[in-house]
Order: sequence, then C-alpha cells, then structure tokens
Amino acid sequence: MRASLIRSAAESLRKGGSSSSGNAIRRSYSSDSSPDRKVAILGAAGGIGQPLSLLMKLNPLVSRLSLYDIAGTPGVAADVSHINTRAEVSGYASDEQLGQALEGSDVVIIPAGVPRKPGMTRDDLFNINAGIVKSLCTAISKYCPNAIVNMISNPVNSTVPIAAEVFKKAGTYDEKKLFGVTTLDVLRAKTFYAAKAGVPAADVNVPVIGGHAGITILPLFSQAAPTGNSLSNEDLKALTKRTQDGGTEVLEAKAGKGSATLSMAYAGAIFADACLKGLNGVPDIVECSYVQSTVTDLPFFASKVRLGKNGVEEVLGFGPLSDLEKEGLENLKAELKASIEKGIQFAHAN
Ligand code: 2OP
Repeated sequence: MRASLIRSAAESLRKGGSSSSGNAIRRSYSSDSSPDRKVAILGAAGGIGQPLSLLMKLNPLVSRLSLYDIAGTPGVAADVSHINTRAEVSGYASDEQLGQALEGSDVVIIPAGVPRKPGMTRDDLFNINAGIVKSLCTAISKYCPNAIVNMISNPVNSTVPIAAEVFKKAGTYDEKKLFGVTTLDVLRAKTFYAAKAGVPAADVNVPVIGGHAGITILPLFSQAAPTGNSLSNEDLKALTKRTQDGGTEVLEAKAGKGSATLSMAYAGAIFADACLKGLNGVPDIVECSYVQSTVTDLPFFASKVRLGKNGVEEVLGFGPLSDLEKEGLENLKAELKASIEKGIQFAHAN
C-alpha cells in the first residue's frame, strides 16, 4: 500500500511535469540507474519548504536531500527521513551550517523568505527577501558554484536578477543555471483553462511567458492544447486575469494565514524534477521558466526553456500571439523592466 502511494506520487510528479516532453516523462529513471544527485532546499522549514521537502523526498532522482533553514530543519529532516525512498536526508539550521548544507549540491531550491499577506503585492516583500536571497546566493557561489538554482522567493522578477548580480560579482555566474520558478503560473493556467474549455486538466498544455507577478504573468491560451470548447474574448480575458491573480486568490482564501504553499511546493517539485531529468541527460525536457533571455528586449523573461545536462540548453521563443496576448506583452514590459532594474540596483548597492 505504502509503496504504491509512493509510486503514484512519483508518477504524478512525472506526469505533471514537462509541458512538451511526453515521451521523456514516460521514460522514468529508476533509482538504480540514475546518478547520485544532491538537492538542497533553502527555507525548508517554511510553509512552502516543508511540503517541498516531502515531495523531493519522494523523487527517485534525488539521492541526497539537504534541508536548510534558520531554525526547525532538524525536525523536518527527521520527519521526512523516515519515508522509505532513495534520498538520504540531512537537516541544517543556522548560518554556521549553510556551507555544509550546500556543499556538493547539484540543484538548490530557494523558497526562503517571507510570504505575502492579504493586500500585499509580491514587490512588497522586496525589502526583506532581497537581503535573504543575496546572502543565500553569496553562500551558493562559495560552496556550490556549479549548482542549478531554482528561485522561488518573491518577488521572483527581482530576486533572479539579484542572484545573477551576486554570482557575477563572485565570478561564478552561469546564465544557464539560474531559473525563476514560474511553474505555478503554468499549473494555474492549465487548471483554469481545462475547467472552462472542458478538457482534462492533467493533459492540457498552456505556456505562460513574461514574469511572476500580476500583469507580468502572461498565459498563452491561444497555444493551449488540446483546445476543447471555443472560448470568447471575454472568457480569455477572465482566464488571463484569474491566472495573473492566482496567488492573490489563495492569499484571500487563506484570510491572513499564508499564501500558496501546497501548490507552490508542487510546482517547485515539478520544476526541480525537470532540472534533474535535464542534468541526467533525458531528452526533450521543456518547461516555462524565468531566465536570462534575448527573446524580448528585457534581460530576463519567462518562456519555454529546453533543459539539459548544463541547465538551459535552449531558450525557446514564444511563437505566434493572439491580439490579446500581443497587448498583454506590451503592457507587461514596463513593470517587468522596473522589477529587473530594482533587483540589479539592490545587488549593486548592498
Ligand atoms: C504564488 O502564489 C507563492 O508566488 C507564489 O504565485
């Protein structure tokens, strides 16, 4: 019973993953044949960190799972370590143990920092989370400079540029290895589209481009596949707005008791799984992510990315857009540009 639960969780991770990698998803790697991979989670005792730790413990591609937070991680580590899956779990707490937590990591996932409260934008978190991300990235450049970094801490539109500047200053920046996790926007777009268009939520693909805040999140419903019921422009506008406000919908529903943690953890686990598959040489792993980009005139932009043994193998263009999407793209640029510049300025000034 337990084994089948674990298998179905791992299978669901595989199925929920790469938007255009059906064959690769089905070609799962067993723990025996896949290489040793260390995954570190920074902020592992938090609202996102705990369920993310659980999901990464269920991932058969992980051989070592390193859980770091300022406090509370020994408990989380002890808890998930009792699950009989491949990953060996270690918990690290306090600044002194950060180096040990990071050493030898292949993938570092960062959900650390404070979440939004109702009424806040992601940018309202900047003052606290920017400093946290900066110090964590300084440690990454020292202890695991070759690791792939998956940034979840908000505001992602700014924290990814901060990380890039920290790595540049340390001489360790590799633009192929830095990712802003926008997978939850994709999951929301898929879920909301599927309900409206009458297609199975688990099978639909909807790319989401731009960034990870409000109007910078731009779902491309014109590229949804399979298509299902035809939707009016009003329907598409409403679906776009709901996707853009998905995080706020959860915040309000939780009424002051937190932001999206469970769906965010799932999204983080899906994206990390895709990175691990790419590292392991599984072909055709494609996910949307916020990365250094030349797809637009903005230095960072979310679009489909092909993942490989060195991280980003190819940043894919976004293809033809509907008029509504063209308008959305023009509208998001100023805000995204400002968020990127804010991150870069912070990294230089501090
Ligand atoms: C979201 O709800 C937490 O940013 C995350 O979209």
